[in-house]
Amino acid sequence: MSIALLDGPPAAHGMEGFAEHRQRLGSLPPVTQLIDAIERSNLRGKGGAGFPVATKWRTVASQRSGTPVVLANGGEGEPLSRKDRVLMEQRPHLVIDGALVAAAAVGADDIVLYVGADHTGAMQAMHRAVIERSAAERARLRLVSAPVRYISGEETAAIHFINDGIALPMSIPPRPFERGVDGRPTLVQNVETLAHVALIARFGDEWYRSLGVGTASGTTLVTVGGAVPQTMLVEIPQGASVADAVNAAGGITSDSDAVLLGGYFGGWVESGTAWGLSLDADTLRQLGYSLGCGVIAVLPSGRCGVVETARILAYLAHESARQCGPCTFGLRAISAAAGRVAGLSPAPGDLEHIQRWAGLLAGRGACHHPDGAAGLLASALRVFAGEFQLHDHDRRCSVVNAAAVAS
Ligand SMILES: Cc1cc2nc3c(=O)[nH]c(=O)nc-3n(C[C@H](O)[C@H](O)[C@H](O)COP(=O)(O)O)c2cc1C
Ligand code: SF4
Repeated sequence: MSIALLDGPPAAHGMEGFAEHRQRLGSLPPVTQLIDAIERSNLRGKGGAGFPVATKWRTVASQRSGTPVVLANGGEGEPLSRKDRVLMEQRPHLVIDGALVAAAAVGADDIVLYVGADHTGAMQAMHRAVIERSAAERARLRLVSAPVRYISGEETAAIHFINDGIALPMSIPPRPFERGVDGRPTLVQNVETLAHVALIARFGDEWYRSLGVGTASGTTLVTVGGAVPQTMLVEIPQGASVADAVNAAGGITSDSDAVLLGGYFGGWVESGTAWGLSLDADTLRQLGYSLGCGVIAVLPSGRCGVVETARILAYLAHESARQCGPCTFGLRAISAAAGRVAGLSPAPGDLEHIQRWAGLLAGRGACHHPDGAAGLLASALRVFAGEFQLHDHDRRCSVVNAAAVAS
């Protein structure tokens, strides 16, 4: 299978230094017509929403309210994801190259490298990589340590933190591309997205498209976890299947009824459907799925989907920035009810409430945090419908015994 980002020295080698990086890939070519090439490459953002990169660049480049800033988002708060930190640990210069060419393309003079404070290996590698750059490049690069919270990677929270030291989402408008870092138009782009840009700038969109399977374009990083030998980062061609990605991570270690696609912001899919799904943003969207930030978590046999969903909801409720009522109170109430159903001690009407509230949560917050929780819950209610009924009506779990569920 084609790889691109993780081509080069093996993982055990650690960070690829600047001299090796330049020897392997050559210098960055001058930026001409790059936005058109990015558009033809069909590159989508890798931070979760899969937004077309070229569209975002055009919007930032057309702003007239100040010199733009590029914010390379390496917060990676998603608990099931490893891709951004491993990429920064191993290929920090790809991320920096991508940020530099993005800055040139949109007319930015300042680049913020926003890295999760707990991703110490990534932080050290990015720090070393910045030092290895020329004085002129160093002067434009600012490394910022992102607070360890799920919400810190949300783009307005990142901007709020960089501007005021508060990693909480802000209400929009203004959107980051209008007024972001230092009040200037800001291009927020996931670090993996920028690393792909660094390669497209060198080798072109035609080369990039050729890496994909069928009509899909390029490669993508995927963290595969759950019922596999160990959680593993793999790079696969876009358009390869979920089964291909799981096999690249060593294959499944137990039977499995469901796969969590896209992480905590994604959704559950029955395994029978999941294995054959093509990992291509466009194809997945047409089918109502998303690869989100590139997570595939295979539910191991012996683990209950209702219990796992309740755990994730509890985490997301705890991580709410508690600024908007529906997110603060709605998410907390749903999480509490799901916890009771999962723990086989439902209160009367809990399941009906969960079903009704799930539909009311989406679109009610200042940021997309509650939307992610609502999507996850809706998928769980669909995929584990029988199990929810069993927990709620019969106070039984078909997978684990009551003592294990409660623990
Ligand atoms: C609750 C929440 C958390 C997020 N966390 C991250 C994150 O850790 N890293 C990231 O790149 N994007 C994260 N995002 C998405 C960003 O807001 C933004 O869309 C993204 O960084 C844009 O980059 P992309 O277009 O390259 O994907 C998060 C979004 C939400 C709603
Ligand atoms: S929706 Fe939730 S996480 Fe987002 S700003 Fe409001 S309270 Fe915070």
